[in-house]
Amino acid sequence: MTIQRVLTGITTSGTPHLGNYVGAVRPAVQASHRPGVQSFYFLADYHALIKTGDPARVQRSTLEIAATWLAAGLDPDKVFFYRQSDIPEIPELTWFLTCVCGKGLLNRAHAYKASVDKNTAAGAEPDDGVTAGLFMYPVLMAADIILFNAHKVPVGRDQIQHIEMARDMAASFNHLYGEHFTLPEAIIDDNVATLPGLDGRKMSKSYDNTIPLFAPREELKKLVMGLLTDSRAPGEPKDTEVSALFQIYQAFASPQETEAMRQAYASGIAWGEAKQMLFERLDTEIAPMRAAYTHYMTHPEEVEAIVKRGAEKARAIATPFTSRLRAAVGLRNLADGSAAGSVVKSGKATKSELPSFKQYREKDGLFYFKLLAADGTLVLQSTGFDQPKACGAAIGRLQAEGAAALAPLGQTLAAGSTADALDTAMAALRDAKN
Ligand code: TRP
Repeated sequence: MTIQRVLTGITTSGTPHLGNYVGAVRPAVQASHRPGVQSFYFLADYHALIKTGDPARVQRSTLEIAATWLAAGLDPDKVFFYRQSDIPEIPELTWFLTCVCGKGLLNRAHAYKASVDKNTAAGAEPDDGVTAGLFMYPVLMAADIILFNAHKVPVGRDQIQHIEMARDMAASFNHLYGEHFTLPEAIIDDNVATLPGLDGRKMSKSYDNTIPLFAPREELKKLVMGLLTDSRAPGEPKDTEVSALFQIYQAFASPQETEAMRQAYASGIAWGEAKQMLFERLDTEIAPMRAAYTHYMTHPEEVEAIVKRGAEKARAIATPFTSRLRAAVGLRNLADGSAAGSVVKSGKATKSELPSFKQYREKDGLFYFKLLAADGTLVLQSTGFDQPKACGAAIGRLQAEGAAALAPLGQTLAAGSTADALDTAMAALRDAKN
């Protein structure tokens, strides 16, 4: 079984709330225990700088989020758990990707477009208040993902476009410099609940309707008691479908408990009583984690040491990989290899990254060609041709028709090669011309 790499980042600009826990933290911690999966969870503090200019908030949020993941049961020995800003390879790769990413692609990013639309509607300059950081957000995020060659990226629906952009950037880089990156895929878990907030809309920092995950018990109780309900009196049957209270309860309760609550709704439980039940259910689940959370919040040096160790682990992958990428783009030791040769050859891509046809004349006076794949393996060794023109025509036909042209040309593949390898090589050559 090939190991699947699953990676996700959490922007460190806020305080974790119940919605984050149910929607991201809990499913991720569960997934990290699955066999055959290598998990990468990181604190996206570079991304936080795009959202806030408040240094104290970035620091506090980074600690809070790290403490939350640890309290929720993430095992830093089993997964890669690190802080983005401890991995200098991420900003380095961001630059490489910046140089292969079309500006037009970034123009189409939803978050950027939303800012432009808002400005336009308000009669302001389109880019008013838009930093280059916001514009570049998808590139930094692509670097986060493909630096570790993640296969799967669990995200919310609002992030799907960013994963598609990461694929685009990875493919552009691969196309230009050879196959270095895995193309990542978003995974959206439809079973994961989106929690409603205090006012019944989606729980979100931007609506200011959140219940902080680790609010002290008394505060948690006060917040739950303030949940929006309708005006139905005790004894009147209540509707579970539209009830934020019921949905939050369901996200924490067992199916049996949920069923019991459904019946209590039908038989007219008083809102006050239902709120009390929700509060107790939440507190039962949260209290043990809250104790661990409080421990980490009061021992930040432990958290610091944990993420630093995580960075070491992550960099054991990232540093050598980045050396390879540096060499691929041409940031090389000047004394290495074919610097002089490449001046003479020039051209779009260096030869070694593309398949190539070599034509030559043998002592028997005939003209031959061979086809080498991008990695240098022999795909085809031709038979002899009387005329160089016939040799060239055969190459032209192979380029146009691929493996289908083999039989009519009376040619056969090299031992160990395949029709697929031939077709792939021809496609790569066609692409390189465009
Ligand atoms: N943009 C993500 C969010 O706001 C956070 C993030 C940063 C991320 N880098 C990532 C998510 C890489 C997944 C993979 O939710």
